[in-house]
Amino acid sequence: MAVTGMNGGFRQLPGLLLAWYDEHKRRLPWRDDPSAYHVWVSEIMLQQTRASAVIPYYERFLAALPDIKALAEAPEELLLKLWEGLGYYSRVRNMAKAARQVLEDYGGELPPEPERLCKLAGIGSYTAAAISSFAFGRKTPAVDGNLLRVFARLTDFAENIRTPAAKRLAAAFFDEIFPDSRPGDMNQALMDLGAKVCLPNGAPQCADCPLAELCLAKKAGRETLLPVMPAKKTRPSEERTVFVIRTADNVLLRRRPRKGLLAGLYEFPNEKGTFTKEDACSYCKNLGLSPVSVRVLPAAKHVFTHLEWKMTGFEICVAEDAAANFTAIADLKERIPLPSAFAVYTKAVMEGLKN
Ligand code: ADE
Repeated sequence: MAVTGMNGGFRQLPGLLLAWYDEHKRRLPWRDDPSAYHVWVSEIMLQQTRASAVIPYYERFLAALPDIKALAEAPEELLLKLWEGLGYYSRVRNMAKAARQVLEDYGGELPPEPERLCKLAGIGSYTAAAISSFAFGRKTPAVDGNLLRVFARLTDFAENIRTPAAKRLAAAFFDEIFPDSRPGDMNQALMDLGAKVCLPNGAPQCADCPLAELCLAKKAGRETLLPVMPAKKTRPSEERTVFVIRTADNVLLRRRPRKGLLAGLYEFPNEKGTFTKEDACSYCKNLGLSPVSVRVLPAAKHVFTHLEWKMTGFEICVAEDAAANFTAIADLKERIPLPSAFAVYTKAVMEGLKN
């Protein structure tokens, strides 16, 4: 396998790719004003979510926290609320921690060097390279899943692409082919190529690819077989029952533990297992509350990285005078961080409020 970019016939790659990018690039808000802070926020959001879905989160986050100082000083509940729906909440907690480090160590400005960026909480080599190249014009390839896939196909790399050795080879390949001018655009162009043309799951759109002539996997007829990925682990599935215990205007919530899954977020009380209506009433009575009526809510599923929840739910109405420790339903939308795992039940509560 030839990884030697320039010697292996990839000399024309930057020119071809950048010309394609100039014509086809996606308009994305973080590309319009790529300050280091903007790139940082967008890249952390983009780690688990598609670009089109990130845009409203990105705009809302910057409106609320326009700079590093605001992020460093933001109350945790606001951070979690701004992140609600993006998942992996430790990412936003780490950002706030890193913002405080940046205030203390760098006077509030992110440093340009990837080595320094990598020392900040939650910033790994990919994010550091993205900030360095987009905001500071440094020649630092940002090797993520997209670039690994493009690398595997361009060079016909037939081994597992997710190993550290494969990542090192990919990084060396891109180091060699990156141009001195426009390194940030080169990263963006590779990301767009991976997102729009060199698609995963055996579906590359080679007819639209500006690099098709250079692609060794295509030449060998193996483009749909690459990249080679490790076998997917099966995710354990857990049955849970969610209890929406409410009055007309208030609902019972609890806070999750400070560590672990959805740490520190709010939730409707929920338990392992599938409860019957009678079990649900007993559960409510055990909390010292008297059910007035019980209604079955729709089933729901939520997939986390390492776990899947299969949920059933009950709405249990209790008397108004029981609601001293409840939360105002009107506050759920703007203020309370309730993870999207519970979206079906949050929606049921909100709809109940309208009636
Ligand atoms: N995915 C990760 N980073 C991205 C970026 N800067 N633009 C578009 N999609 C991305």
